[in-house]
Amino acid sequence: MTRNLLIPIITLTLFICTSCTAAAPPRQTLDFNPDWRFALGEQPNAHQTSFDDTQWQSLRVPHDWAIAGPFDPNAPGNTGKLPWKGEGWYRKTFTLSPADADKRVFLNFDGVMAEPRVYVNGQLAGQWDYGYMAFQVDITPHLHFDKPNVVAVHCDTRNHGSRWYPGAGIFRDVQLVTTNSIHIPHWGIYVTTPTVTDTHAVVRAQVEVDNTLPNSRTVQVITTVLDPAGNPVARRSRITNAKPSTRTTLSNTLTLSNPQRWDVDHPHLYTLVTEIRHNDTILDRVETRFGIRTFKWTADDGFHLNGRRLQLQGVNLHHDLGPLGAAFNRRAMQRQLEIMKDMGVNAIRTSHNPPAAELLDLCDEMGLVVFDEAFDKWDHTATYHGGDKHFDEYFKRQLTNFIRRDRNHPSIVVWSIGNEIGYVLTNKNNKWKPKVDMLVEHVRALDPTRPVTMGNHGTGAVTNKNNHVLENVDIMSWNYNRKYALAKARYPDKPTIYSESASALSERGFFHLPLPAHKTDYVTDSRQLNAYDMNGATWSDMADVDLLRMEQDRYCAGEFVWTGFDYIGEPTPYNDQWVRKNNLTQSDASRSSYFGIVDLAGIPKDRFYLYRSHWRSEQTTVHIMPHWNWSGRKGAPVPVMVFTNGDSAELFLNGRSLGTRHKGEDKNVEGLDSYYSPMKHYRLCWLHVPYQPGTLKAVAYQDGKPIGQASVTTAGPPATLRLTPDRATIHADGQDLSFILVEAIDKDGNLCPFADNLVKFHLQGPGSIAAVGNGAPRSLEPFVASQRSLFYGKAVVIIRSNQDETGAIQITATAQGLTETTTRIKVE
Ligand code: GAL
Repeated sequence: MTRNLLIPIITLTLFICTSCTAAAPPRQTLDFNPDWRFALGEQPNAHQTSFDDTQWQSLRVPHDWAIAGPFDPNAPGNTGKLPWKGEGWYRKTFTLSPADADKRVFLNFDGVMAEPRVYVNGQLAGQWDYGYMAFQVDITPHLHFDKPNVVAVHCDTRNHGSRWYPGAGIFRDVQLVTTNSIHIPHWGIYVTTPTVTDTHAVVRAQVEVDNTLPNSRTVQVITTVLDPAGNPVARRSRITNAKPSTRTTLSNTLTLSNPQRWDVDHPHLYTLVTEIRHNDTILDRVETRFGIRTFKWTADDGFHLNGRRLQLQGVNLHHDLGPLGAAFNRRAMQRQLEIMKDMGVNAIRTSHNPPAAELLDLCDEMGLVVFDEAFDKWDHTATYHGGDKHFDEYFKRQLTNFIRRDRNHPSIVVWSIGNEIGYVLTNKNNKWKPKVDMLVEHVRALDPTRPVTMGNHGTGAVTNKNNHVLENVDIMSWNYNRKYALAKARYPDKPTIYSESASALSERGFFHLPLPAHKTDYVTDSRQLNAYDMNGATWSDMADVDLLRMEQDRYCAGEFVWTGFDYIGEPTPYNDQWVRKNNLTQSDASRSSYFGIVDLAGIPKDRFYLYRSHWRSEQTTVHIMPHWNWSGRKGAPVPVMVFTNGDSAELFLNGRSLGTRHKGEDKNVEGLDSYYSPMKHYRLCWLHVPYQPGTLKAVAYQDGKPIGQASVTTAGPPATLRLTPDRATIHADGQDLSFILVEAIDKDGNLCPFADNLVKFHLQGPGSIAAVGNGAPRSLEPFVASQRSLFYGKAVVIIRSNQDETGAIQITATAQGLTETTTRIKVE
């Protein structure tokens, strides 16, 4: 028997039924991620039980077969130059207990890229088409209980279209679930809170019961609400007749007093425990987390959570985890969300596909509201190959799983049926309106408690009076260029949200002079983008422009910045279209995006402090840019900008005051193109500081009182490396990670802003190097490696624990000519 089958991941507490016997657990949910074998390419007969896979690679899923590379300089940059196109096979052998021969057995996949076909003991047991969507396969008819079983999963990305790097393989969790014949089906619990006041809340638990037996059974459905501390606070039981081969649905209504609200600052979570009993036997038991909150989208006053206006300070996140690729890792995702929260983010848009289920768990736990999105484009870029013929069936099927999986998450406050569906928005002869209406209605039928939207860009949908395609959509979500205002003009009673704002472009550390003359003035010769954060795409804007719009247009619920993190692929402006247009070679294209507020390795760009100083006005931020190493520019002017939550700051160079700047004053933007005038509200600028080596210091003030200071000093040559782990202690679960920031510093500890040394990592102890990265969008150095060049002085090495091995991991970083450095991580 494989080891994992012995470890149920749900522990069973039979606290409700004291008279019931604690016999075999009614449901087992097993972590089915370990012990797979994998091979790339066509593998004739790999679905057959007898196939010999002993030469295949052993691994644990989630797995992304393409992230280790190698990068192909001549492959499309838009999808990351990584080898994700192809076929892959996964196989796993497992044993079931003969005592379970009368059970139902399911495989739950949270995402397989792409078009998975699931074989069990040589037979096709199930398949799915959309790689980002969770699905379940009932494998009961194909199982053996007296000998080993083999599951083989074929993944095929050859027909998968994408505008970014999608990853490849079983890239999310797999679970093996064993239930009784009478059981709660997958996602068969739906919790809503129809009444919420300060004194009480009504909880409605809709429960589905499947009976696969040939005869009826009278069953008791018991629902118990546990408060955030785990104490039972309400209980309701009902008897029903579960008919043979039928799904029975019933609802229990429970009332509890003094509900603790789920909110962004205190994300209290309740649990619904649902038990199905026949006489004294517990047939099934499922725990469902939920939250108690009210929310309202208004047309004139934005979004309200629990009765107060909440400005949505959101970011769009793609699904990849930078150097770790598309293979989901909870800690890597949690880190992304922590970094975003530190910046002041309170909302996430899952652009443009269903996220891993754990992302929503994390948002529930961390207090982030979610714009949950199902698709990009509805064409081949969303892997829809059906043409119009199978449209209804395909999209309804996907949306059913999407809503059923996610509808109990308190964090989700809107469903999106897609992003930027050009031909649909054009809606010639109103052909697409019935389709949009049909999908909106389908979502509403599955969850009437949340509004439905789609992300839009083609303004004809609101400026053309004969185009009614968006009439039935609840919320106007518009991408870029204040287009939400056009939507507001056409549909004044519908709420609006800026579903994509900014799309600013920059490269961490690359400060280039002169400053851009206008937003699309890129440093094309070196194929780089200025770190001064003053560039946008042709269709989009720098951060400051959209921050000001959000302050002015208070009817709009807020913004989702494109994007929180850089992601692999879509390297605008140095993308494949640019290569073609300019007759360049494919290797001129970059391989990852420049849009992120934080780079691909998770290192903040300077823009991070711009958002933080505005979004977290109560928290001290004082940040100076650029670096102060401008040899060759002695006496020549260098623009200096300070981001602070204060209202003003005084700048000093080597102790001499260069004057005070206030937010809002024109001096901040003197001489710049008028496009840049919003900068004056968010940046304090000294645009002509004559360069002298030494120390620049900014002292920030609020209402005349100093609130903090920052400084930057001219660095000497790199002397050594500084290693800063984000966590010094990690868990011995084989999944936990520590992200270590690697920086080149001079002999006095100043960051060397141009260091590009190749750093080699040596690890000892119970862990391994999971990946390395440095945020360079053009670098073709592999992510899965034990060395990395610094990019503008910095890189990151990601350490993973080993399963069940505790102790100390020691990581030593060496680079030619620099003193080596060691750090330790405890594994518990
Ligand atoms: C939007 C699109 C995003 C991304 C972005 C880049 O129009 O929805 O997926 O492509 O542009 O600016």
